[in-house]
Amino acid sequence: MKNIPTVSAYRVFKNRKSILKNPLPFHNENFEKLGEIFQVKIGPSGLILFTRSPEHIKQILQKNHKKYHKSTLQTEDLAKYIGKGLLTSNGDHWRTHRRMVQPAFHKKKLEGLLGIMSDAIRDELKRIRPEVLEDIHPLMGDLAFQVVAQSLFSRNDIKEDMAELKRITETNQQMLIKEMRQPYLGWWFKLNGAIAHHLKLSKEARNLLDKIIEERITSGVEKDDLLDMLLKARYEDGTAMSRDQLIDEVLILFTAGHETTANALSFTLFLLAKNPKVQEKAFQSVSGIDLENQNHLENISALAYIKQCVEEGMRLYPPAYYIDRMNIEEDQLGEHHIPKDTMILLAVYELHRDKNFWEQPEVFEPERFNPKNKKDFSNYYYPFGAGPRMCVGNNFAMYEMILVVAEILKKYRVQTNVEEIEIDPLISLRPKEVPLEFIQR
Ligand code: HEM
Repeated sequence: MKNIPTVSAYRVFKNRKSILKNPLPFHNENFEKLGEIFQVKIGPSGLILFTRSPEHIKQILQKNHKKYHKSTLQTEDLAKYIGKGLLTSNGDHWRTHRRMVQPAFHKKKLEGLLGIMSDAIRDELKRIRPEVLEDIHPLMGDLAFQVVAQSLFSRNDIKEDMAELKRITETNQQMLIKEMRQPYLGWWFKLNGAIAHHLKLSKEARNLLDKIIEERITSGVEKDDLLDMLLKARYEDGTAMSRDQLIDEVLILFTAGHETTANALSFTLFLLAKNPKVQEKAFQSVSGIDLENQNHLENISALAYIKQCVEEGMRLYPPAYYIDRMNIEEDQLGEHHIPKDTMILLAVYELHRDKNFWEQPEVFEPERFNPKNKKDFSNYYYPFGAGPRMCVGNNFAMYEMILVVAEILKKYRVQTNVEEIEIDPLISLRPKEVPLEFIQR
């Protein structure tokens, strides 16, 4: 067995400021120097393994997935704020609930949600201020949150509750990031009451959702939205989810489904602004389509080039830029022995820019995803993960993003005055600011 190259705790300490700002360049340097796999020492006994090898990633997510669980980053650190839903659980608990939640996201079911989704999108896009250069990311954040909220509850009269829920979700996420980046201050966060304060916020969010669910049940009205599907889902013994479990799953859908989509949309719009020829081609593909007709699925199928633009946007800026796992049994990755309980980060960002596979990886070229030209990129492209834990909302997200880009390009030409956007990788890969101007067509 070969030793895995190790980055010392000293080197991490020396680079701590740049790592805190954006860890991606540090990791890239390590990969370039040390090869496809390396480990980083974090403290006296802790180690984190990083891999960008397509073989390792496939083995972990697919071939040997049974040996790998979600790490405690999600099942403990994140779960304490958002509960034990799909994203944050493992084993039988996860399997049982995946079986119950997944049917709500089948393509056929989603078809029924497309009307709600496109109304929510159109409503939020009314906030665009034409000919004003401004950061588009907050709008994309609100839009993605509203799309999840409307798809769950199909209600327009709870905007204030939803704004509060968004505020709590985001504030708690900021706390989590603090805890992850400064683990040595854990004792202080407990002592100064910060964790207790955020747990109290989580409780408020849960109460708010409980009230909305109760209103639905007492109304006796069937809506055919995501909440209805979750209410109707049954365990094998015919019983329904407890109220607490239902709230966990709803909170997870907000958490997993809003920031990721907002990031992908902001990056894709920026890339379109930087590439006017691609933007023109995308506009041509939507110009003849009446997006206000009710044939949403037909429209989406006709928007193949816009789909490619979104796919290429997520290649360059995958919102889930690392996927974390911990092995519950020992394993072997290539020539390396991996002891049980190793924390592993799969470097999706690196894989999506692997120069041995992608031609001119830095260039925004949606044609790569044209089904006519595409080479088999399945081992080099994981925006939604892979294997049994693959994103349950992937079709939902793709439909939503295609509709948003189409609605925008149909009305506006998008431009920007900046060369690059600074990225701010936190739990997801997100842009710091995306200044865009919308010129009316
Ligand atoms: C561009 C948007 C999105 C991206 C890039 C994305 C990415 C991902 C990835 C990579 C995973 C797998 C994580 C892992 O294996 O550790 C995941 C899981 C998940 N995603 Fe998404 N996601 C997006 C949108 C959504 C939406 C819209 C929803 C729901 C409304 C959603 C719900 C979930 C859930 C519940 C899981 C956990 C699935 C499980 O473990 O069984 N995601 N997502």
